[in-house]
Amino acid sequence: MRVVFISTEAVPFAKTGGLADVIGSLPAELLKKGIEVKVILPLYKTIKESYGEQLHFVKETKVTLAWRKCYCGIFELEYEGVTFWFIDNEQYFLRDGLYGYADDGERFSFFSKAAIDLLSVLNYQADILHCSEWQTALVPVYLKSLYAKNKFYKKMKTVFTIHNIEYQGLFGWDVLEDLLGLGEEQGAVLEFHGCLNFMKGAMITCDRLTTVSPSYAEEIKHSFFAHGLESVVKENSHKLSGILNGIDRNRYNPAKDKALPVHYSCTTMEKKVLVKKALQEELGLSLSEKTPLVGMVGRLASHKGIDLVAAVFEELLSEPLQIVVLGTGERRYEEFFRKMAETYPDRVAAITGFSERLASNIYAGSDLFLMPSISEPCGLSQMIALRYGTIPIVRETGGLKDSVIPFDPSTGKGNGITFGSVNAHDMLFAVRRGQVLYHDPVSWKQLMKNAFLTNLSWARSTVEYVKIYQDLLR
Ligand code: GLC
Repeated sequence: MRVVFISTEAVPFAKTGGLADVIGSLPAELLKKGIEVKVILPLYKTIKESYGEQLHFVKETKVTLAWRKCYCGIFELEYEGVTFWFIDNEQYFLRDGLYGYADDGERFSFFSKAAIDLLSVLNYQADILHCSEWQTALVPVYLKSLYAKNKFYKKMKTVFTIHNIEYQGLFGWDVLEDLLGLGEEQGAVLEFHGCLNFMKGAMITCDRLTTVSPSYAEEIKHSFFAHGLESVVKENSHKLSGILNGIDRNRYNPAKDKALPVHYSCTTMEKKVLVKKALQEELGLSLSEKTPLVGMVGRLASHKGIDLVAAVFEELLSEPLQIVVLGTGERRYEEFFRKMAETYPDRVAAITGFSERLASNIYAGSDLFLMPSISEPCGLSQMIALRYGTIPIVRETGGLKDSVIPFDPSTGKGNGITFGSVNAHDMLFAVRRGQVLYHDPVSWKQLMKNAFLTNLSWARSTVEYVKIYQDLLR
């Protein structure tokens, strides 16, 4: 079976969010299952700069976008056994960063069309094209329209994965013919409140639709989560599945992570506290082994539930605990945490920036990891925390609900602490439950063990993807 991933991000080449981690791991896992996997990415400036020497030029072609004939270079590089094909067009991709340009609609329409064309140019008969997010949502739309009568593409099936339904790719009606080269019929598929909605187009035209957790697959049937697409989700729910992401267990491994001053694992968990001590020292917190340290790593955005944290922050501090926050995002949140760190220097540390090294040390050195997201399609941080034996406190939504099971001291089962409603005090009480457990050595040890032993491997999710691919080929 031949599966081609078409994506705008993949670790280690280009990353703005969790999509990159998924496309950086899943293909290699599928390869282990005997599936032939390729990945197509845009050749961004940073990739050219960092991998220039290793990129091997394969071919060039011209891609038609309505009246435009665009240059398209194809480069190749093998990384950890997976072949990556890069689409080169300097006008579109030789820029800083990945997204945020006025012509993003044009850039990624070009990329989607170029990715399809690449297959016939290289005479690569794929079975499945697996696309993600609005940036590649036109792939199934094009396959079912402009390429519908083309023999080469006739048997190819598409899978479209929603990593976050909030970003849908909305564009003006005028681009339909002039840029996409599509007509009225596809216009109806893409139409959304007088605009074009790329994600909607993919949801309707793809052969199978997936999202990154079973709970999120249910949630997006409701307006609170679906940002206007709830009826489209419901109409297409017969082909929708929710598959929880895994994590790269080698990349996130407390027994090997080079960023940590001390290594540990489930069987040497008593050494974890040494990472905590080093972290407290580095951040200027008081050196107190017995004070629970609560970590937060991630984007400071409102859907991450930062308002809940801000609303009860000083109440949280009325109990003996320390808090460390690492992340960037909305200015009001960055300023809030900086102010709290100034006011309580020995108990609160805020780093508004990003550092992989510090992130690792917070995942490992904290006792509790707070992630009160309002919405979280899958979430990676809670999984990393579990992998490092740090107890997640999460709101029961999306992938958080599917990966964190509330600990019950009477049965010794569960790997974290959860709360249900979007309510700051519910979150506060969840943190307090965490503190109580922390001071109960028997429960705490069991809880840490359960966290370490949580199955977060990609192998589990891979089985489900393979099943979908097989169904499609039947
Ligand atoms: C998006 C989601 C996040 C998920 C990631 C990978 O970034 O917001 O929850 O973990 O995609 O699927």
